[in-house]
Amino acid sequence: GGVEHAMRLELDGLVDKMAEGPEKAKFAKEMDDFYRLFTRHLHEKKHSRPLDWEKVRGPKPEDVIAYADLGQKAITDVAPLLSKLAVLKLNGGLGTTMGCVGPKSAIEVRDGQTFLDLTVKQIEYLNEVSGADVPLILMNSFNTDEDTSKIVQKYNSHNVSICTFNQSRYPRFKTDSNLPLAREPGTRPGLWYPPGHGDLYESFANSGLLDHLIAEGKEWVFVSNVDNLGATVDPTILQHMAETGAEFVMEVTDKTKADIKGGTIIDYDGQVRLLEIAQVPKAHVDDFKRVKKFKIFNTNNLWINLKAIKRVVGSPGFDLDLIVNHKTTDDGTAVIQLETAVGAAIKHFTGAHGVNVPRSRFLPVKSTSDLFLVTSDLYLLENGELRMNPKRTFRTVPVVKLGDHFKKVNDYLARFKAPPQILELDHLTVTGDVWFSSDVTLEGTVIIVANHGAHIDIPRGAVLNDKVVSGDLRL
Ligand code: UTP
Repeated sequence: GGVEHAMRLELDGLVDKMAEGPEKAKFAKEMDDFYRLFTRHLHEKKHSRPLDWEKVRGPKPEDVIAYADLGQKAITDVAPLLSKLAVLKLNGGLGTTMGCVGPKSAIEVRDGQTFLDLTVKQIEYLNEVSGADVPLILMNSFNTDEDTSKIVQKYNSHNVSICTFNQSRYPRFKTDSNLPLAREPGTRPGLWYPPGHGDLYESFANSGLLDHLIAEGKEWVFVSNVDNLGATVDPTILQHMAETGAEFVMEVTDKTKADIKGGTIIDYDGQVRLLEIAQVPKAHVDDFKRVKKFKIFNTNNLWINLKAIKRVVGSPGFDLDLIVNHKTTDDGTAVIQLETAVGAAIKHFTGAHGVNVPRSRFLPVKSTSDLFLVTSDLYLLENGELRMNPKRTFRTVPVVKLGDHFKKVNDYLARFKAPPQILELDHLTVTGDVWFSSDVTLEGTVIIVANHGAHIDIPRGAVLNDKVVSGDLRL
């Protein structure tokens, strides 16, 4: 149709403006990949075929296996398998949500160490104990690549080889005209975007790194979000990959009432699929959120066979469910960015299934409330890995809600002189202009509310046990 044609001309025009060289061919391939996503989007808009809710079933028992039912292994048990493994961290995201500039992975999360520092420590330890040489691969985006390249230089002397590749850069297009905002192929703020982590398959293959790893004899890649501190290499699941020959394993974990967002594994017409909330028809959203019916959610820790990636990426039927992300630019233009999610590829792999893992494998830091937990005495740091302090009586994580005054990392750090002791904490809510001195202990349920205009100082050495603090309290 006309819209397709107009987009094709625009993309060709962008490619034409690029200087000759290897970058041009790469860009042209990227625009072809984008164009395929775009035509799919137009097609789906016209022949919108919403999910048939009648066909959506909870997963079959064999589709989600309990972690406890797997034969437990230690790192040293799986040394030969580790030599066939690569670890890949999704590193395309920025730290904007937490008020930081630069890659999210460069945020200091514990004892002055960043997400990347901790990841490197974890893999170094793994290599040291097993004698294997597990490489770390970072999938960067055009937003994070430059900073990340500088940062990784400091790991040169470490016992881990690090390589990076860039995910794709796609053009945002106007919602009304369906035409790209960009007039030039170069990056300018707001005109281009990284199209979600589902882009991994194509950009991994396009980069040549996938072929390289296969040629080196690697068999599997363990993929996870760089901000998930619980996503360490698990020997038990690696052994399970090798034993079952499954091409794809998704680590899922039990939902709590607070987890309404993550995708879940379903059975759709006999096929294993990932169902995201965005795909659920409006009338069934409450049904989707119900913890009883869909008990588990995707942690985005994925184990994938490399040759299988090679096969599915090249196959004509390879399509990941489209996420249509509506945005508004700074000057008020409505634009669309088409994205995909890495876990959506589950339907393309043979023997794909979920493993229901302990909650400890899902420790994401999305907010300063999460930061509050991972910097506290609730966790101990061992070889780059956070382990829950055995002194905590209840093995659950407290529910913590810090208000807007704490939203940016710098504000958060200023307002907590030192991380409070929270071994006995169940619930913490803090809102308003609140400041914490050092050596504060919080226990049970603690609610601190400084109303508008009020200011609360929690003094040095304070022990708050099942307490509500409000009003105006100055030191
Ligand atoms: P998200 O920003 O998607 O976090 O980043 P989320 O809210 O947990 O979303 P889902 O539910 O996983 O989609 C998750 C990880 O993916 C990376 C981020 O850097 C982060 O590590 N990411 C995200 C990319 O590498 N590229 C992208 O285009 C988007």
